[in-house]
Amino acid sequence: MILALASGKGGTGVTSLAIALGASLVELGVDTTLVDANLRVPNVGLHLGTSRVPVGTHELLRHPERVTESVQHHPPTGLKVVPGNIGSATKHVRHHDLLALPKIAPFLSTLVLLDCASGLHQETLASLAVSDGLIAVTTPEFSSVISTLKLITHAKELGTPIKGVIINHAGTKHAMSTANVTALLGVPVLAEVPHDDNVAEAHAIKHPFTYSHPDSPASLAVKQAAETLYGTHVRPTPSTP
Ligand SMILES: Nc1ncnc2c1ncn2[C@@H]1O[C@H](COP(=O)(O)OP(=O)(O)OP(=O)(O)O)[C@@H](O)[C@H]1O
Ligand SMILES: [Mg+2]
Repeated sequence: MILALASGKGGTGVTSLAIALGASLVELGVDTTLVDANLRVPNVGLHLGTSRVPVGTHELLRHPERVTESVQHHPPTGLKVVPGNIGSATKHVRHHDLLALPKIAPFLSTLVLLDCASGLHQETLASLAVSDGLIAVTTPEFSSVISTLKLITHAKELGTPIKGVIINHAGTKHAMSTANVTALLGVPVLAEVPHDDNVAEAHAIKHPFTYSHPDSPASLAVKQAAETLYGTHVRPTPSTP
């Protein structure tokens, strides 16, 4: 199964949340790989300290036979990661390369999370098109919610089911209420993640914040979202006796 994390607007916390959610799902026993699908500005490697790899997403998409070489491990959590290639690979992006992902995903893990480019770029839409579900990320600001509504509309047009929305930096001053965000977006809220300085601290030491700061308010919210997803969408089908 491929689930895309994406936002209508940049800087809402997609990469931080994708890493933390992936690590939390591994903790629940779900075999999970996070793939950097932000081809122009790949950031997963920077967040986890694995920025220069020979076979990153860009290379993998063109050479799916190199799938085993592409997987990096985050040993403390067990999360598998395919960071993007950096340097010249990001200059001539071919968004349609992302269409190879459904064939590659079964060789990565049961669940593949995509850290998508923000906005409504072709590469974001290509990621949505190959995904079995969208987890939208927004902040509770009106402009961010409206951008995310556009993203959700595109996902629906592409036939991609919406698993829900994560509201990041929830509860900040002048924020829209969760009820208003839900009314506008019309999708379930998976988590309300508060602004939490531990997120930036985890970023600095290159760990998922749910691992380095497990009891922080942001971590507790993301772990709750992981449990919801686990219970409703990604639980492996029990084998029949
Ligand atoms: N809940 C939070 N509390 C505090 N800081 C946060 C929170 N979520 C994200 N951040 C910080 O916000 C910044 C942007 O986060 P991140 O890189 O995950 O966003 P993004 O949506 O992936 O950005 P881009 O659009 O550039 O890909 C980072 O410095 C991160 O540490
Ligand atoms: Mg990002």
